[in-house]
Amino acid sequence: MGACGGENEAGSNGGNADDGKITMGFAQVGAESGWRTANTKSIQEAAAAAGIDLKFSDAQQKQENQIKAIRSYIAQKVDVIAFSPVVESGWDTVLKEAKDAKIPVILTDRAVDSKDTSLYKTFIGSDFVLEGKKAGEWLVKEYQGKTDTVNIVELQGTTGSAPANDRKAGFGDVIKADPKFKVIASQTGDFTRAKGKEVMEAFLKANPKIDVLYAHNDDMGLGAIEAIEAAGKKPGVDIKIITVDAVKDGMTALAAGKINFIVECSPLLGPQLMDLAKKVVKGETVEQRVLTEETTFTPEQAKAALPDRKY
Ligand code: AHR
Repeated sequence: MGACGGENEAGSNGGNADDGKITMGFAQVGAESGWRTANTKSIQEAAAAAGIDLKFSDAQQKQENQIKAIRSYIAQKVDVIAFSPVVESGWDTVLKEAKDAKIPVILTDRAVDSKDTSLYKTFIGSDFVLEGKKAGEWLVKEYQGKTDTVNIVELQGTTGSAPANDRKAGFGDVIKADPKFKVIASQTGDFTRAKGKEVMEAFLKANPKIDVLYAHNDDMGLGAIEAIEAAGKKPGVDIKIITVDAVKDGMTALAAGKINFIVECSPLLGPQLMDLAKKVVKGETVEQRVLTEETTFTPEQAKAALPDRKY
């Protein structure tokens, strides 16, 4: 497993709430983006505020590390396990192990594709399909009344992850209604700035006419901006850019006109997660799906929102 909180090794004072304090094992995806950093901070701060003892692990974007972390939390008999699954599939076995050990599981941020929904108590996070649709709707409006082909390149998130699958699907669903929109290249940038830059460089070399970049997160969009500028083009003008997240760096680029539109995805899941954890540990029934509220931003809206942006 990746960087584990020092006190959080297997065999330390486990949970099942006998000392009255809830112990949560949280298996984080990694530290791939500004969004993830803000999400980790929100979870750690909310746990401290709620008096929950948090055991935290960073899987460095690897499913096997997350599975190891979850098994270690089961061995430690924590009261509740929460995790943000790096990819959608392949969780049934470990989730069944948690269920057999009578440890409730909460999914945060990303979904799993398990058919057996009794393997987890609830799922808190965004509607990624809707986020993709919002990106597509902005594009349709932007090119309303125009007939020329619009060449789009897409930087996908981590292959097999719920946000990559769903943001692609939602966007595709909206733009398919108009044949002038053509996705001429689509590749993963793994939600990182470095990979976003690298893949955009390749897109630019292979495609002389790119009108639009749709990046599944701000970080990949920001990496791509570096590649676009290095190629002597103006991001936001020569190539229109749509991203998802609305973290501070993304909003700053949006306010500067280098990004044209951002669909918000809120990382501030900590407080709601701790409330849900308290309820499931008490055995209370909770909603199977808790949706995060989100908006969208134009450059003007980004300028207005930036002074109060917390992440
Ligand atoms: O699962 C949420 C996504 O993961 C965010 O949009 C992205 O920035 C992060 O890496």
